[in-house]
Amino acid sequence: MNSFEFFNPVRIIFGMGKIAELPKYISKDHKVLVTYGGGSIKENGIYDQVFDALKGYSVFEFGGIEANPKYETLMKAVQLIRKEKIDFVLAVGGGSVLDGTKFIVAAVPFKGNEWDILAKHLPIKEALPFGAVLTLAATGSEMNSGGVISKTETKEKLAFGSPLLFPKFSILDPATTYSLPLNQVANGVVDSFVHVTEQYLTYPTNSPIQDRMAEGILKTLIEEGPKVLSNPRDFDVRANLMWSATMALNGLISCGVPTDWATHMIGHELTAFHGLSHGVTLAIILPSLLRIMIDDKEVKLAQYAERVWDIKSGTTREKALAAIDKTEVFFQSMGIKTKLTGYGVGAENFSKIIKRFEDRGWVGLGERRSVTPDKVLEILKNSL
Ligand code: NZQ
Ligand code: ZN
Repeated sequence: MNSFEFFNPVRIIFGMGKIAELPKYISKDHKVLVTYGGGSIKENGIYDQVFDALKGYSVFEFGGIEANPKYETLMKAVQLIRKEKIDFVLAVGGGSVLDGTKFIVAAVPFKGNEWDILAKHLPIKEALPFGAVLTLAATGSEMNSGGVISKTETKEKLAFGSPLLFPKFSILDPATTYSLPLNQVANGVVDSFVHVTEQYLTYPTNSPIQDRMAEGILKTLIEEGPKVLSNPRDFDVRANLMWSATMALNGLISCGVPTDWATHMIGHELTAFHGLSHGVTLAIILPSLLRIMIDDKEVKLAQYAERVWDIKSGTTREKALAAIDKTEVFFQSMGIKTKLTGYGVGAENFSKIIKRFEDRGWVGLGERRSVTPDKVLEILKNSL
């Protein structure tokens, strides 16, 4: 096992009806801004639950944060906070609202061009405190300190993070996810799944606890994912999916092990250029990446085959290949097409993606830095 430091201060408040407990976690002395997305919370009653709980507070609101949150929109919230001297933000939504809020709270006290937090990874020295009410199980943003923001003007999608950007608390009521369209639920299952594989399908480092936790999350997603499609109002299934998503990306399973993240980096470009949902991009790229990078990942892939998919016969290579096929079929069984052509996307932007990676100095992604621009192109071509 490699050396590591683990820090995660997020208070998780999990269960049905927990939004009503908001006043326990936000002092009445704060001026609060509630941030949210395109309006789903107004249709499913979550908006009312939040504002009922915040009666007696000084509350402002900022709606309209898009899926794949846009810098241009978020800067309007930054201006509102500066003007009104707001000192606490409550994000109510999915990963996009949470990520957008992380950017907002970092940008408010930032001196200089706020886009440089993303473009130049300038250090975040200060941030407003914020909490979250999660409405979509997928990103793990509720218990981590990172985010991903897009810029409309340049079609860029960039990640950022800081230990100052952990939520003070996150309320996870699985019932909030009942109103999600099933394709969003499926995207969330795939996103959680790929968060685990990014931290697990690398090379062995004799880290059995991390491996078995990762395998446990993957098996849970494989078991519970299809259930949600046939029985969307099953609270236990929603709860298991929500907790799986949180556990997949709260830092625990990456302790002491190598991590990959190349699928995410390539996927972000497909969102930036084509607007594909995050989960969809991962379902397209992961199977292709695993096939192209199989020499690097064969040992862990065979372990994955045996322990997660119960594939016991064949050579190491045969098991690895069979497990990749099973993974792709699982994504498809969640109703997600796993080829770019299924979304009307061709090779038109492949050379731009490669150029971007080269311009950013990303000449070797993945756990061994072996996902070179040539490999990225091969992965993209095999995703068509
Ligand atoms: O905007 P509203 O109206 O709320 O609608 C949203 C949005 O259209 C809707 N939705 C959310 N909760 C709902 C609901 N509709 C009905 N009922 C509910 N309860 O779902 C749509 C998608 O929401 P979004 O927040 O975009 O989805 P998700 O949670 O998958 O977040 C995706 C974003 O997170 C980033 C992605 O890149 C993408 O920008 N990620 C963040 C990560 C992190 N912070 O650690 C890691 C991930 O790998 C990912 O990159
Ligand atoms: Zn993701």
